[in-house]
Amino acid sequence: MITVKVFGDPIPTGAVTATVPQRDRVEHLQVSVAEKTITFVYKLGTEDVVYGLGETMGRVNKRGGHYISFNTDTAEHEDSNPSLYASHNFLIVWGRETFGLFFDSPAKTEFWVDHQGSGELRVVCHSRDLRLYQIAGERPYEICRTFLKAIGPGYLPPRWAFGYGQSRFGYAKEQDFLDVVRGHEEKGFPLDYICMDIDYMDGFADFTFHPQRFPDPKGLVEKLKDRGIRLVPIVDAGIKIAPGDPVYESGLKGGHFCRDREGGCFRAAVWPGWTHFPDFFNTKAREWFGKQYKFYTDFGFEGFWNDMNEPAIFYSQYSRTKKLGFFLDMFLGEKRKEEKARAMERDYKSFYHDMDGRRLRHYDVHDLYGALMTRASSEGLRKLLPHRFLLFSRSSYIGAGRYGGIWTGDNTSKWEHLLLNVRHMPSLNMCGFLYSGADTGGFMGNCDRELLLRWLAFSVFTPLMRNHAGKFTKDQEAYRFEGPEDFRSILTLRYRLLPYLYSEFMKASLEGDMFMKPLSFVYEDPTVVPIEDQLMVGDSLMIAPVVTQGATGRRVYLPEPMTMVRWDGDTFTCEAMDRGWREISVPLGQVVFFIPEGKLLPVGKAITNTAQYDTEDLTLLGTGNSYRLYTDDGLTHHCDLQNIVTLTK
Ligand code: GLC
Repeated sequence: MITVKVFGDPIPTGAVTATVPQRDRVEHLQVSVAEKTITFVYKLGTEDVVYGLGETMGRVNKRGGHYISFNTDTAEHEDSNPSLYASHNFLIVWGRETFGLFFDSPAKTEFWVDHQGSGELRVVCHSRDLRLYQIAGERPYEICRTFLKAIGPGYLPPRWAFGYGQSRFGYAKEQDFLDVVRGHEEKGFPLDYICMDIDYMDGFADFTFHPQRFPDPKGLVEKLKDRGIRLVPIVDAGIKIAPGDPVYESGLKGGHFCRDREGGCFRAAVWPGWTHFPDFFNTKAREWFGKQYKFYTDFGFEGFWNDMNEPAIFYSQYSRTKKLGFFLDMFLGEKRKEEKARAMERDYKSFYHDMDGRRLRHYDVHDLYGALMTRASSEGLRKLLPHRFLLFSRSSYIGAGRYGGIWTGDNTSKWEHLLLNVRHMPSLNMCGFLYSGADTGGFMGNCDRELLLRWLAFSVFTPLMRNHAGKFTKDQEAYRFEGPEDFRSILTLRYRLLPYLYSEFMKASLEGDMFMKPLSFVYEDPTVVPIEDQLMVGDSLMIAPVVTQGATGRRVYLPEPMTMVRWDGDTFTCEAMDRGWREISVPLGQVVFFIPEGKLLPVGKAITNTAQYDTEDLTLLGTGNSYRLYTDDGLTHHCDLQNIVTLTK
């Protein structure tokens, strides 16, 4: 049961698509309205667990933290940082009383969750216009599913988007992409796509190719597609101010850019230098932006990667303090951080949207901007392409999970960020972002062999499995490392598991369910509640990734009897195990996972590209009797739960 209480006059955010009954009362929470804020307070029981908040730092149980929904371009993924790139204001309180809350407001929203032992959940919305959704249910999983159904079925990527992707900020010419393909082919590593970072562009301007370094984009797309590889270009939010450029000129002429205080087009500097930001709050501007993707689809591109859409601002016409950009800022102290935060606030307070006749100050609706960019691209691509496309974004707001996936931005090559990736996945799923993943191997800093192998071994289970590294970091492609058999083992496992991963993902997305869940959503066993480094993946699989440097295995808790499956590069070895704690050895290059009693997990043949995918000759692992396999051609928009065949042992 979900109800909504409306405060003030909120804009439609598009987050909830279901018709939800209104109610005047707010259950559970104390509410106080001040001049510019509304505060909600709930006294937490000592044992209460708080889930949700999607892309935030901290654990899966959000207790102990202070989190701010205010989308920020930040490479500082540390617990002291309250804001990342996204705003996912959904939470579940589970304990003495159990209920769900969704603070549907695109303005800055702060959450203190038993912060410094305060014993309370305090939520401050920095706006008096908001919809507060209250969700009733007995258990967190039930509340979550009610919520996911209310925000609509999730984005459905094509099957090739479940293949392995390689990326790097720095691939700057055609040959770099051909080398990546060759590197994978030579080692027999599977690959499905390569991302093209901003270096493909001419002057970092969207909807351009550098004429010398990429003289024939169509030819390149075709050449790689013949080898099964798709190219996925990045598209940034800002449009380069480039008189004479057709995209810039048509945006200007159509009045599609955000306005400054004086009524001109707001100017902000990002990668290309000075840009204007498309006004994604405006229907016509969204349509205009969506149409621009024709530039790429005409060349044959079918996948896209939207970035810098918080929107990131290096400096603006009003504030020049951010000039150094984030790489240098990383090395500058607190003072610089405060200065940056002030500049950011000043910038966001100085431009405006025209939401189809309603003028909005950006600052008041900031958290929705990236989500609306995703919507614009998704709606445009839906018209331009006859089939499903890959689309993922950095910034997001709840509801954007219907239009595309997300990745979690500029993490670092360190073990803590592998664990963060593990924790993020269930939290993102709770908020409707099933197609998600992190930069495998880490974006900032240098990744070593051990970390990359362990990270890949976890990413095998995340829908988006992309190795991405930052500029000036050490080479991070799997084929660059010694001992290719370990990498081949893990990458091959991803492809052998595709029938299961794809099927479970599609069923979950179509049904309004989660794909990756905390154990506590499935098992009523108090032991599992604090376990955050094991996850359920679909219905027939539990994983327990190794996230510690130097570890040769780990302790795993089995909440019921399970089949332990060990993958060692070409065979699966199965072993029945009882409920309880186990010490499991996991040598580098192997992957161990668990199938609950009574479940089956289909695995396919070893392939190196999703074009070779077939479900003819599946092996069924586990002790169950049957498995419901979702099937389609991997491209059609007509996805429906009728497309299920029952496999029996
Ligand atoms: C941002 C993105 C990163 C990308 C870089 C250059 O930092 O988060 O993934 O590589 O911009 O486009």
